[in-house]
Amino acid sequence: MSKKSLGNKSCLYPYPVTILGANVNGKANFMTLAFIGIVNANPGMVAFGCNKRHYTNGGIKENLTFSINIPSKNMIKAVDYIGCVSGEKTDKSGLFKIFYGKLDTAPMVDDCPLCLECKVLKILDLGGFDDIVIGEIVECYCEENCLSSNNLPDIEKLQPYMLSMYENRYFSLGEYLGKAWNIGLNYTAEK
Ligand SMILES: Cc1cc2nc3c(=O)[nH]c(=O)nc-3n(C[C@H](O)[C@H](O)[C@H](O)COP(=O)(O)O)c2cc1C
Repeated sequence: MSKKSLGNKSCLYPYPVTILGANVNGKANFMTLAFIGIVNANPGMVAFGCNKRHYTNGGIKENLTFSINIPSKNMIKAVDYIGCVSGEKTDKSGLFKIFYGKLDTAPMVDDCPLCLECKVLKILDLGGFDDIVIGEIVECYCEENCLSSNNLPDIEKLQPYMLSMYENRYFSLGEYLGKAWNIGLNYTAEK
């Protein structure tokens, strides 16, 4: 192996492509969000970076609620669009069919097969461009035809897609490789 140093680059590949939803001044607004991950399993928590200047950011601070929606690859153009224009100048509230859940102020995208309704636990300003928002998942909604036989989201049916950040390229899900917490159980390093 021969590694080249690239400096401080946010290369945690791949990035999931999601939609962040929040009410801003009483109206739903949505933006593309890729700097996000699960940071606690039980209770389920997410953490993400949201630029301090984004319109959606104001709505998160206003209501302390938000949604994370997982789009299917067939929504790629609409999802790219909401990542190119700001709710400050363009009303994005009519782009999707919206529904609300338990929190009343976290708009979710009905067109997305999987939606997470969340409340803010903490917002951190560590001096960068982004606020780091940590939230708890209050409820999770999955389209029935995207569930597996054990009533959990089936990733192949969801058809999520990913971002390759610095190349600005989207990719769909690859092939199934094996069972997690299982395939490596009897692994020994080859000599
Ligand atoms: C693929 C993609 C991923 C993005 N990921 C993020 C992100 O993780 N955090 C962020 O602050 N902005 C991200 N953006 C940029 C915002 O989605 C974009 O600036 C949006 O227009 C902000 O909308 P708003 O001003 O209505 O909130 C991303 C944009 C694209 C196209």
